[in-house]
Amino acid sequence: MTEPLTFALAKGRLLDDILPLLAVLGIEPTEALTGSRKLIFETTRPDVRLLVLRATDVPPYVERGGAHLGITGKDTLLEYGSDMLCEPVDLHLSKCRLMTATRKGVNLPKFGRLRVATKYVNVARRYFSAQGRQIDPIKLYGGMELAPIVGLSDVIVDVVDTGNTLEANGLEARDLIAHSSARLVVSRVAMKTRHALIAPIMGALNEWVNANNVS
Ligand code: PRP
Repeated sequence: MTEPLTFALAKGRLLDDILPLLAVLGIEPTEALTGSRKLIFETTRPDVRLLVLRATDVPPYVERGGAHLGITGKDTLLEYGSDMLCEPVDLHLSKCRLMTATRKGVNLPKFGRLRVATKYVNVARRYFSAQGRQIDPIKLYGGMELAPIVGLSDVIVDVVDTGNTLEANGLEARDLIAHSSARLVVSRVAMKTRHALIAPIMGALNEWVNANNVS
């Protein structure tokens, strides 16, 4: 039998949005994805299996052939930056904004390297370089909001949804870097080799986006 189509999903908030969408495609996991230590799951479709990964691990899995396609956020894809991946469908789910933020009422230093705490180091470098600012990036994996408070950084680059996390930590959003939403991501290789299975999935997702008028 041909190897099943392997679909990599980002766990966390995105997963809650994506599961109902998979059901629309007739893809339902045969056991609960959350609360399990398992990373790979069978589905009601014998020709499709699911991987549940960190959002940042979806692009390398898809790019290197560990999965044929996946769903993750545009923020993650901007940071990863690969020519080997295509993003055929914007699902318009899990929308948020990639922004800079500082302590309330504090301006950025005018000269010198900006200390930027973020998990989006590549995005931050590109953004500030376009403004003619060099940065001293501080790679963090969470809790970025703390960095300016304790004097670790001048600014953070992070995703903002409701703004509650910034507010709760005495920070304010400054500049918008990019809008983000969940994207279907497919490797250029799988797009050719597994087109017969992937094309109907892309078609159904596009139809769902149009029918639900979520754009
Ligand atoms: C993200 C982000 C902020 C928060 C923003 O973290 O890093 O902390 O969400 O959302 P808000 O504007 O609605 O408050 P997330 O909860 O995804 O966890 P993470 O830190 O593990 O990325």
